[in-house]
Amino acid sequence: MYQPGLKGIIAAETELSYINGEKGELLYRGIPVHDFVHNYSCEETAFYLLNGRTAHASELANLRSKLIAYRNIPSYVEEIIDVLPRDLSMMDVLRTAISSLEMSRNMKNYEIALNLIAVFPTIIAYRYRSINNLPRIQPASDNLNHVENFMYMLTGEVSKTKAQILEKYLILTMEHGLNASTFAARVTISTESDLVAAITSALGTMKGPLHGGAPTGVINLLEEISSNDRIHEVITTKLANKQRIMGFGHRVYKTVDPRAEALKETILKLDDVPKWIELAMETEQETIKILQQHKPNQQLYTNVEYYAAAIMKTLELDPELFTAIFSSSRIVGWCAHAIEQLDNNILYRPDVKYIGKK
Ligand code: ACO
Repeated sequence: MYQPGLKGIIAAETELSYINGEKGELLYRGIPVHDFVHNYSCEETAFYLLNGRTAHASELANLRSKLIAYRNIPSYVEEIIDVLPRDLSMMDVLRTAISSLEMSRNMKNYEIALNLIAVFPTIIAYRYRSINNLPRIQPASDNLNHVENFMYMLTGEVSKTKAQILEKYLILTMEHGLNASTFAARVTISTESDLVAAITSALGTMKGPLHGGAPTGVINLLEEISSNDRIHEVITTKLANKQRIMGFGHRVYKTVDPRAEALKETILKLDDVPKWIELAMETEQETIKILQQHKPNQQLYTNVEYYAAAIMKTLELDPELFTAIFSSSRIVGWCAHAIEQLDNNILYRPDVKYIGKK
C-alpha cells in the first residue's frame, strides 16, 4: 500500500507522548502537557521524558549539575563556527556544529543526550553574539538554571519573567510523537549509527518551513498584515495565489493545537499584553473563518508555531533564532526517541513503488 507522506501510517511504537488530534490533547508519558507547564521545570520535564519517571531530589540535582558541566563547547567547535560564512542560517550553523561534536565511544547514550541538551544553547548564543559583533558571554557555571543561562548567554541579562515564559515554551515543545524531525532521528539511529548523527539528521529536517521553520513565516505574515483592516485582503490574496498560511494546519491536530492554546494563555497573563498580540488573535479568528470557507473539507486551526512566534516576539528574540530555539527543546524528544528506538531496534527500510520506464 502506498500512502503519500506516510499519512496515517503507524511507523513505530512509543511510550513518550500521546496525541489525540480530534480532541486537541497531548500527554507526555501519560501526563497532560499542561501539568508540566504549570508544575515542572525544564530540567524535571527532560528527566521525566528521558527516564519515564519523576526525578528524586538527588537525581534532579545530579541532572542539573551535569547540564551545567556540559555547557561549554570545545574550542575546535568554536573555530568551526567562526569560519562559517556570515550569511549561513542559524539552523545550518547549529547542524554543522553539532555534527562536529566528538563523543567518547564509552559514553552511554543517556550521557550523550545530556551533553547535547546542554550544548545547544551555548552554540546558538555563541554564534548569535559573534555574528552580531557582541562580546561573547561564557555559560554561567552554577547559579543559573538551563533556561536562565540560555537567556543570559543570548542577551547578557536574566529576567525571571522572560525566562519563565521561555521555559513554558520549551516544555511545551519538547516532544511530539513521530513528527518529521523525530522520524529522521529514528531512521538514522535505526542503522545503528550514533546519537550525534541522529540529531544531525533531525536538525536538517527541522529547518524546513513546513516544520520548525514556520514561526519566521508567521512573523512575516503578521508584519504584512500590520493592521486589523488588512487581515481579510492579505489572507485571501495568499490563498488565491495557492500559498499556505504559516502557523495554520497540522498533520495530526484537527482542532486547535493544545500547545498553541497554552502559549496564548501564557502571553495573555502578562501585565502588558503587546499590541501586536491583539493583531495575532484577530488574525487567528478571521483566518480560521476564511480557511473554513476556502477548504471546507480541511480542519485548519492554529498550530504551535503561530503562538511560538508570538512568544519569541514578546521576548524580543531575533527571528533568526526561532527554529534553533525550538530545536533546543525538541532535542529532548529526539534523544528520547532515539534511545527508545535502540531498545527494540529494527532498521527502517520502507519500499518504494516504481513508476518509471520498464
Ligand atoms: N494554509 C492553506 N492551506 C493549507 C494549510 C495552510 N496553512 N495547511 C494545509 N492546507 C491545505 C493544503 O493546501 C491541502 O489542500 P488540498 O487538499 O486542496 O491540496 C490540504 O490543506 C491538506 O494539506 P496537506 O499538506 O496535505 O496536509 P498536512 O496534514 O500534511 O499539512 C502542514 C500539515 C504541512 C503543517 C500544513 O498544514 C502546512 O503547510 N501548514 C503551514 C506551515 C506550518 O505552519 N508548519 C508548522 C507545522 S507545526 C510543526 O511542525 C511543529
